[in-house]
Amino acid sequence: MAKKKEKKTTIEWDYAPAPESTSHIEVKDRYDLYIGGKFVKPSGGKYFATYNPATEDKLAEVAYANEKDIDKAVKAARKAYNEVWSKTTPAERAKYIYRIARMMQERARELAVIETLDAGKVIRESRDVDVPLACNHFFYYAGWADKLEYAFPNREVEALGVAGQIIPWNFPLLMAAWKIAPALAAGNTVVLKPAETTPLTALKLAEIIHEAGLPAGVVNIVTGYGDTGAAIVNHDDVDKIAFTGSTGVGKIIQKAIAGTGKKATLELGGKSANIILDDAPIDQAVEGIINGIFFNQGHVCCAGSRLFVQESVADIVIKKLKRRMDTLIVGNPLDKNTDVGAINSKEQLDTIAKYIKIGKDEGATIHQSNCKLPKNGFYCAPTIFTDVAQSSTIVQEEIFGPVLTVQTFRTVDEVIQKANNTPYGLAAGVWTDKGSRIFNLTTKLNAGVVWANTYNKFDPTSPFGGYKESGFGREGGLHGLSAYVKLK
Ligand code: NAI
Ligand code: MG
Repeated sequence: MAKKKEKKTTIEWDYAPAPESTSHIEVKDRYDLYIGGKFVKPSGGKYFATYNPATEDKLAEVAYANEKDIDKAVKAARKAYNEVWSKTTPAERAKYIYRIARMMQERARELAVIETLDAGKVIRESRDVDVPLACNHFFYYAGWADKLEYAFPNREVEALGVAGQIIPWNFPLLMAAWKIAPALAAGNTVVLKPAETTPLTALKLAEIIHEAGLPAGVVNIVTGYGDTGAAIVNHDDVDKIAFTGSTGVGKIIQKAIAGTGKKATLELGGKSANIILDDAPIDQAVEGIINGIFFNQGHVCCAGSRLFVQESVADIVIKKLKRRMDTLIVGNPLDKNTDVGAINSKEQLDTIAKYIKIGKDEGATIHQSNCKLPKNGFYCAPTIFTDVAQSSTIVQEEIFGPVLTVQTFRTVDEVIQKANNTPYGLAAGVWTDKGSRIFNLTTKLNAGVVWANTYNKFDPTSPFGGYKESGFGREGGLHGLSAYVKLK
């Protein structure tokens, strides 16, 4: 009997769609400015749109604050500082901050969905990372509000006054929490501006703060573009500027406030090294590489965007990395199975595309994960470049997208030199089985944060910040509190 020819079938299977519901979410058509405890119209009458980058749908219109509005917000913050907040007992201040934290927890699902809609980040991350961490920052700093004399023993502690805070679009609610919670705990009042592409969760936070009954003017939330941010920076009556964003704008701010006596913390860009030594647990390290560069589409200031693999394990690490990249689910950020969501804006997608082209033009070898990208919205396939040199543009400059460069090294001294050879100094990762190698590297890497056998782990108790062009000052922990006080 003739043998039946076996039919070759390739079994392709997918996860069934598991989209998070948006039915319980209320996004208004239009949002005003939150100044002096009221939602007020912008004095110029201008509004701008914020979009869902995953679909390109318009979500809402948001007020565009001009210099006049900023002046009003700073005056409201000053009045609240002089008349109310500086006279509120520390224990009372703590109660308000705890209340905000608890109300955020109660509305966690709503905040997570809105964050995903407005920013394009996957729901798994906004639900499990951004929102819980944001709540934890309020809880943590609430605890310090009435213990400042223990935070800074033998010193007299005084608030700075009015803090102007400008935040980026990669962790919108979390950055608002990093800025507002320590400022309030230390007794300051606040004028905060969210980024133009992601203002909605900060405006939801304004609603929560309002419902929490925080005295009028203690927190003011103003929306707008770079010129709105500049108006905060240049306002005479602001005592402190806290900025997170690009190194370029950080430099502008530093020049603008030079000689004014304004205090500043700047948390800027990065090009962090993720270093895999030959004795590293390879499979865990591969997960760490993936998390380091593809978490939040690589829109992470401390992203592990420069991978260094010791030569003897380079082939196996790169092979496993490529295989793992192919299993990443790229697409609808609202789907609970999605690993990599949408790029935050068309502009950022263009920036990333520009760097991918430069990488190819400079002769690097590109590998992109084998995934289908949605037709609408802004998406970029997870990408790695091998055959790069220390001098390659894509090794030197921050891309802020899901793009990794891969270099190899032979000795530990060599990798320390290469890792430190960058204008930045925000973070680094080290993967090895040996504690002594961890200590050796962590003491020699010029980075504000060094993770060992993990990456992108955050906690409110732990200070975060950079060296060199990654900025100065620390956020989180006691260090984060000290950035908002005068010590006598
Ligand atoms: P950006 O630095 O322009 O924006 C960050 C914030 O600063 C926004 O709220 C913006 O409105 C405000 N801003 C802009 N110009 C200002 C000025 N002159 N004075 C005061 N505030 C101002 O960042 P952008 O243009 O959105 O992103 C460009 C690049 O910056 C990215 O590709 C990435 O490399 C880097 N970046 C780094 C971030 C980080 O966390 N380190 C966050 C966002 C961007
Ligand atoms: Mg948006």
